[in-house]
Amino acid sequence: MTTKTWRPLTAGCCRVHDQVIAGKLPRFRPNRPEFSKKIAQLSSFRRLSASDVPDSPSTTSEALTHAFAPGLHVFSLGELRAITQNFCGGFLLGEGGFGTVHKGYVDDRLRPGLKAQAVAVKLLDVEGLQGHREWLAEVIFLGKLRHPHLVKLIGYCCEDKERLLVYEFMPRGSLENHLFKRISNSLAWGIRLKIAIGAAKGLAFLHGAEKPVIYRDFKTSNVLLDSDFTAKLSDFGLAKVGPEGEDTHVTTRVMGTQGYAAPEYVMTGHLTTRSDVYSFGVVLLELLTGRRSMDKSRPKREQNLVDWATPYLTTTRRVRMIMDPRLEGQFSVKGSRAVAALASQCVNPKLKARPPMHVVVEVLEGLQHLRDMAGNAPPAPLTQTYRTQRAARKPFSEHVHKV
Ligand SMILES: Nc1ncnc2c1ncn2[C@@H]1O[C@H](COP(=O)(O)OP(=O)(O)OP(=O)(O)O)[C@@H](O)[C@H]1O
Ligand SMILES: [Mg+2]
Repeated sequence: MTTKTWRPLTAGCCRVHDQVIAGKLPRFRPNRPEFSKKIAQLSSFRRLSASDVPDSPSTTSEALTHAFAPGLHVFSLGELRAITQNFCGGFLLGEGGFGTVHKGYVDDRLRPGLKAQAVAVKLLDVEGLQGHREWLAEVIFLGKLRHPHLVKLIGYCCEDKERLLVYEFMPRGSLENHLFKRISNSLAWGIRLKIAIGAAKGLAFLHGAEKPVIYRDFKTSNVLLDSDFTAKLSDFGLAKVGPEGEDTHVTTRVMGTQGYAAPEYVMTGHLTTRSDVYSFGVVLLELLTGRRSMDKSRPKREQNLVDWATPYLTTTRRVRMIMDPRLEGQFSVKGSRAVAALASQCVNPKLKARPPMHVVVEVLEGLQHLRDMAGNAPPAPLTQTYRTQRAARKPFSEHVHKV
């Protein structure tokens, strides 16, 4: 296949009600002049399926759909304005580094055959080339990849300078909201495990693809939850096709989110599927502890979750010390110990020591049946139990504690 030069369709700025949307999270992203320089320098840099992108200044959204995503709907800006009530604040679902996300409704009056459903419309802040590139990556990857643990892309809009994406609506929002924003009850242990398994399956699917895909931005805000807490990965803007042939890694600009990116990737730009395994380990730690991967509001030695938690991951007693207080002791002791051990392997600084994602899935699935909840009273010494029972005049057998 010949490699063609990719040209941006446009490079503009996307505004909502004349208000430029600002990014909120710290990311490793070079500014534009720096970005152009780096692209020229790194010979091994490969854009996402760049060789497949039509090399024509007249590339249209229709050409894009034919080339990559025949199943996707192409919407006009007017249509998306209509279904989101003109992107009004009442329909705002959230805001990320690339723009705002709004709720809307579609049905077959909009497109014949379109299922009546709620959707999430992401309005990209296409500040320069990068925003466009991330939009394109999302269309290319999510247009082609379909899996129960990847959020479904329904369509997109590419009109003048505007870039939008239309996804299936995920009723429970992001894992980040549930873990860290006190919007709802704490997630129960079993639900945390279910979410970890779902997200792990999503990553395992990407890594096991014929051309492995490195997700590169695995974090709690990119894990979205269905009504039954089925986890789905969203945001493929930073995803890359993995190394091919003899290559062990892809070399690329360092992008991602502070606190989640693997140390070797941050230091060298060498990206492998094991970089995602590291990020997955960080999210496992967040699920265990209820702490953010990076929290500047904590004392200095507690700010980086991996650094802080690592010494606690080795014994059952120590693991119990760092468990999320919101669980109120309602977690499996053996399960938490095993998840801690797994997280510790995933965040191992040596990337070869990190398990592949299909192994991670197997380990996590093996923990689902455990019911040794820590919140049950620990077994008291026999003599004391016996005395208590006599006082209560109850048969001894009723009080035997099962672990
Ligand atoms: N398909 C969806 N269904 C429901 N809510 C969604 C959907 N997609 C995104 N959201 C909501 O919008 C928020 C913002 O998402 P977005 O991906 O733009 O940013 P982010 O993941 O928070 O940050 P970043 O830009 O660093 O990825 C999410 O945290 C989630 O609450
Ligand atoms: Mg996101």
